[in-house]
Amino acid sequence: MADRPETPSTSGPEAKAEAPHVPVLLRPLLAAVAPVTGTWIDGTFGAGGYARGLLEAGADRVIGIDQDPLALQMAESWAPAWGDRLQIVQENFANMDAVAETHAPEGLAGIVLDLGVSSMQLDLAERGFSFLRDGPLDMRMSQSGPSAADLVNEMEEGPLADTLYLYGEERASRRIARAIVRAREEEPITTTLRLAELIERTLPRTKPGQSHAATRSFQALRIAVNDEYGALAEGLMAAERALPPGGALAVVTFHSIEDRMVKRFFQLRTGHSGNVNRYAPVQEAEAAAFTQKTKKGIGPDDDELAVNPRSRSARLRVGFRTSAPAEDVDRAAMGMPGAAKPGGKGGRRR
Ligand SMILES: C[S@@+](CC[C@H](N)C(=O)[O-])C[C@H]1O[C@@H](n2cnc3c(N)ncnc32)[C@H](O)[C@@H]1O
Repeated sequence: MADRPETPSTSGPEAKAEAPHVPVLLRPLLAAVAPVTGTWIDGTFGAGGYARGLLEAGADRVIGIDQDPLALQMAESWAPAWGDRLQIVQENFANMDAVAETHAPEGLAGIVLDLGVSSMQLDLAERGFSFLRDGPLDMRMSQSGPSAADLVNEMEEGPLADTLYLYGEERASRRIARAIVRAREEEPITTTLRLAELIERTLPRTKPGQSHAATRSFQALRIAVNDEYGALAEGLMAAERALPPGGALAVVTFHSIEDRMVKRFFQLRTGHSGNVNRYAPVQEAEAAAFTQKTKKGIGPDDDELAVNPRSRSARLRVGFRTSAPAEDVDRAAMGMPGAAKPGGKGGRRR
């Protein structure tokens, strides 16, 4: 598994913060949904790279959605130049069908999602996403609700270990959870570097070339704080409700669990509902809500890898809406970690 990688920059974090945001897989995405016309939702607006790409490719209008107020603030300097063609809404993309109803009554041509954290968020120490920069242990994209510090200082050891394991695939989750509980008994853990150093001390030394010891735990906490898998499951279903026949849904993921959820969603909703999860109830074959030109995930080509090695783990999956009615999809069948299995409890066996 790999997440949007956090690499110490050789020229210092300040230089990285000033580096232009490079939208990942934008070219293959635009090619996959061409011709681009009509109204689009960019459900993960971030620095606006996808929204601008869609507008430049011929979209009449783009409704950008981001739950982070910072994304809207950052766009204030350039978005007005697009006039009525670009509107930005602070919202969770789980609610994008309601956003579409209000802001795009003319109907949508497509929806794009580029999941995860933005480099803008990672680079700002005060947002608490980075294990390389000291800041408050925050990690809240929406800047509201419980923070990572709340989770780390308040969760019981067992559920904390489960979170690290299920959301970060951290095999040393129990050891790390135990170390966290011991450390917080002495003093609450409130900063990113205190947590990162604690994890580094708990895990055997990582070899050169391996990711930082805290990578998986930080990813797990970020996913839990922002309920990223819950939002993804809800967002995919909201997209199915919002799109008219022919509408495109293009999703870019950055790690294997997200990609598995998107892949299974499309498998289930293109009529391949059998046997994707042995715990899932056997679902009646429903009329396909999406078609796909290719079931394979699309990755970066050599040119993109050469200019943006960070794109290495990115995968794009695209589907086109049919006229079949929208249906809810079982979260466990979608492969959502920790989703309740029928007849059993969610989470791993202890
Ligand atoms: C990887 S960045 C997107 C970058 C964007 N494609 C660009 O080119 O600038 C992901 C963005 O999605 C936002 N985000 C993540 N989950 C979200 C959700 N459930 N609802 C709304 N925004 C979300 C984050 O705040 C972040 O700004």
